[in-house]
Amino acid sequence: MADRDGRSLSKISDSAFNTSQNHRPNSGKITKTMSAHQSTSRFQILKHQVVGKTTELTELKKKITTLRTRKYKHDLQREQAQDALERLNDQMTLREEEMANVEENKLMGLKELEADFEDKKLSLVSKQNADLQKKADEYFKLAQDTELQKQESRKAELSHLMGEVESLKNQISNLPLDFQQAINDIVVSGDKNLELVKKEKQSEIMGLNHSIEVTKDLILEANHKLSKVKDEVEISIGRTNTMELEYEELLAQWKLTENSCIDLQHEIDSQMDELKSLEDKIAEVMNNAEMYDANALQMDDQILSLENSRRNLHGLLQDLKGNIRVFCRVRPLKAEENPARIEFAPMNDAFKEQITLVTEQRDSMTGRTPAPKPLKKYDFGFDKVFDESLSNSKVYEEISELVQSALNGFNVCIFAYGQTGSGKTFTMSKKEDGMIPRAIRQIFEEVSHLKQQGWEFEIQGQFLEIYNETINDLIGNTYSDSQKHEIKHDETLMRTSVTGVTKVFLDSPETVNELLAKASKNRFTASTKANDKSSRSHSLYIFEITGHNVNLNESTRGVLNLVDLAGSERFTHSQTTGDRFKETQAINKSLSSLGDVICALGANSSKQHIPYRNSKLTYLLQYSLGGNSKTLMFVNISPAHVHFNETLNSLRFATKVNNTHIGNAKRNA
Ligand SMILES: Nc1ncnc2c1ncn2[C@@H]1O[C@H](COP(=O)(O)OP(=O)(O)O)[C@@H](O)[C@H]1O
Ligand SMILES: [Mg+2]
Repeated sequence: MADRDGRSLSKISDSAFNTSQNHRPNSGKITKTMSAHQSTSRFQILKHQVVGKTTELTELKKKITTLRTRKYKHDLQREQAQDALERLNDQMTLREEEMANVEENKLMGLKELEADFEDKKLSLVSKQNADLQKKADEYFKLAQDTELQKQESRKAELSHLMGEVESLKNQISNLPLDFQQAINDIVVSGDKNLELVKKEKQSEIMGLNHSIEVTKDLILEANHKLSKVKDEVEISIGRTNTMELEYEELLAQWKLTENSCIDLQHEIDSQMDELKSLEDKIAEVMNNAEMYDANALQMDDQILSLENSRRNLHGLLQDLKGNIRVFCRVRPLKAEENPARIEFAPMNDAFKEQITLVTEQRDSMTGRTPAPKPLKKYDFGFDKVFDESLSNSKVYEEISELVQSALNGFNVCIFAYGQTGSGKTFTMSKKEDGMIPRAIRQIFEEVSHLKQQGWEFEIQGQFLEIYNETINDLIGNTYSDSQKHEIKHDETLMRTSVTGVTKVFLDSPETVNELLAKASKNRFTASTKANDKSSRSHSLYIFEITGHNVNLNESTRGVLNLVDLAGSERFTHSQTTGDRFKETQAINKSLSSLGDVICALGANSSKQHIPYRNSKLTYLLQYSLGGNSKTLMFVNISPAHVHFNETLNSLRFATKVNNTHIGNAKRNA
């Protein structure tokens, strides 16, 4: 395989990096393939387990969120119920006061009624007495009348007797003398008797008259008394009537009060029932709340232990996936472009997703169909192949684990490699869903999530550019950065610094986005000055993430390097002159150094020299490329026919990187 511009890529033997050859079974390697097959199936089992654990974890997290929401709702209900209870208690107190008032009124009314009754009783007794007196008077009058009648009849008798006496006298005068004498004698004695009877009767009459007088006085007195009693009775009858009316009124009032009392009692009863059911509900809610609290505590414990096992599993998964991974991404075809023939195939036996470039028979220059040539196919396999239909969000799902690793204390590098116009910047930096904005969001979300488990994180950022093997600060005060920046390594701490480059504490995604905008503006300004310099420089977004957990007495430090590489298109020496030639050399040098470093790391020999110093890019990333780190490379390709050769070159370079397996990554202490 001859490389047109003779870059160091040509140093790498074909057998090591030609994918189509690598993937073809070789009869001399049967035993190796067998054991590889066994580890493959073990890997598959582990992969299943990992997927299972991850799903379990997601489920548990979901459950916790639902439980927390339910608990919050119950707390809210409980508070509402308590409010209602307090309101009911207030109402109850009011009702009780009202009841007490009603009771007092009732007692007073009863007392008044009793007094009225007593009065009426007295008046009725006196009325009876009066009636009796009246009857006695009537009897007395009757007796008097009878006495007067008797006197009248006696008077009549007397006058009748007197008449008889007169007639007898006349008879006597008509009789002879002796007779007359005898009669006179008789008359005298008769007179005498008469006189006596007269006297007797007269004294009797006098006595009677006297008793009449006495009786008259008595009657007068009795009449007097009677009229007095009558008056009194009249008055008491009037009083009784008004009292009776009052009594009726009071009785009606009493009835009303009694009814309202009954109503009140009903209301109180129903309120009491309501209160009871509310109390029951509150008790139930309290019970539930306690249960939820207990559950939440249990869950917290579970989360902690799950978090630990998740970290372990995550590490294991990353180990299994290898520490260098390559994702191939094809951008959509543009309207003005003719398509190259690209075929996609699912994962092969080596767990690689496949992409195949097929040579076209059509001559794009003349449009004529030449004599038929046999089709040539170039097969490649990568950890992921994203066709043009896949969005940045879908792509990000595949790298979020790596970003998580940086939080867990690993050094991570994510590169975008490809010719200019193949979608590197679209993939890495597109606003909102590019890998860099998404990674930043994830980091800040995780940082706040891990805070609950006692982790405190500090994030610092440096945004710089390597152009012509010179480092420029993209967020310094001015872009015209004449300062010379040097790379320094602290070999004991395994840390890298660049002199004079702005390092900013990042406290929110907003701060980061502002700085990203500034960096891209600086890049853009520079590119207009020097004719699209942006495609011929590497942009590096370096995030240093340090964490400390007081509870666990653990600290972590990870560095996440996100790199938008310079365009990988090759320029032949004849095509370029002057500055452009120098630029081209610098790009070729740094990109091939990157390939060489990864390749040397993959040789897996401790004695192997790793040529980090061959370029500023590899030297700067020295501690993020290698044993203690994880690397992902996007190889961005164009689907256009006109880019066929560049696409083929990019896929070859990526294959070289992908066939490298660097030993298991270790976390920074
Ligand atoms: N996946 C994609 N979906 C839609 N448009 C894309 C995609 N990738 C690249 N593009 C478009 O293609 C053009 C070149 O992409 P760009 O990211 O600038 O390439 P590079 O950074 O590699 O030079 C841009 O107009 C970009 O919007
Ligand atoms: Mg770009």
